[in-house]
Amino acid sequence: MIDDTIIEITDLVKHYGYGDSRVTVIRDLSLSIKKGETVAIVGPSGAGKSTLLNIAGCLDTYQKGKVSVLSKDVPPFSVDDMSAFRNEHIGFIFQMHNLLPEFNALENIMMPLLIRRWPRKRAREEAMHLLEHFGLSDRATHKPAELSGGENQRIAVARAMVGNPDIVLADEPTGNLDTANSDLLTSRLLDLGREKQVTIIIVTHDGSIAARTERVVTLVDGSIVDDTGSTSPEATDAN
Ligand SMILES: Nc1ncnc2c1ncn2[C@@H]1O[C@H](COP(=O)(O)OP(=O)(O)OP(=O)(O)O)[C@@H](O)[C@H]1O
Ligand SMILES: [Mg+2]
Repeated sequence: MIDDTIIEITDLVKHYGYGDSRVTVIRDLSLSIKKGETVAIVGPSGAGKSTLLNIAGCLDTYQKGKVSVLSKDVPPFSVDDMSAFRNEHIGFIFQMHNLLPEFNALENIMMPLLIRRWPRKRAREEAMHLLEHFGLSDRATHKPAELSGGENQRIAVARAMVGNPDIVLADEPTGNLDTANSDLLTSRLLDLGREKQVTIIIVTHDGSIAARTERVVTLVDGSIVDDTGSTSPEATDAN
């Protein structure tokens, strides 16, 4: 394994169900992602994009192959170790923002740091920086119900980036937004990622997002059919 590899997936197989109703969702898939790389995962509905992202994010299990994230094999962690590992290293952004409705914008962003037992004052300062970066300083005390869809989605991105994760995984993060909001959110996410050397993987149907990542991986029926922009030697040879 090359030193700067952050996610290494080898011969991964994932299926759902048993016997006659068994469905194979990921087929012998291998993928290697480097520190700081920005990657879009594209492909038709049902291709296995979300499944792959969830496995890379230590949120889902699989049947065969090997997955290693930051040089740790995933699993065999205990459930508790797994959540601590995710909290420390991985930020998630989902299609629906998943913010906690009873907490305001600032508190939602602080949450991963409080779980990490950061002192409240330091967590608040860090969260304020991110609110500023995403242009929402004046919305700090608003709860999700008092904010627009685009604003909530920017807060969800800020929450995923807080505390300098190594990896941010986003599943259709701009799915519900108009083009202007989607472009704004994508630029801020990718800029911050580049500045902080965060590895960003975005599952998207949106060609304009895929055009802005360094690498685009196309998944069809559980297999990679195209890998454009990769700097790893295997992928370059295949092109
Ligand atoms: N819990 C489950 N049980 C059985 N099959 C499942 C389950 N979850 C997902 N699948 C199947 O696995 C396949 C891949 O699903 P996945 O959600 O990864 O697709 P996707 O590429 O993200 O699609 P979309 O673009 O629509 O979000 C689909 O055919 C889906 O029906
Ligand atoms: Mg999906």
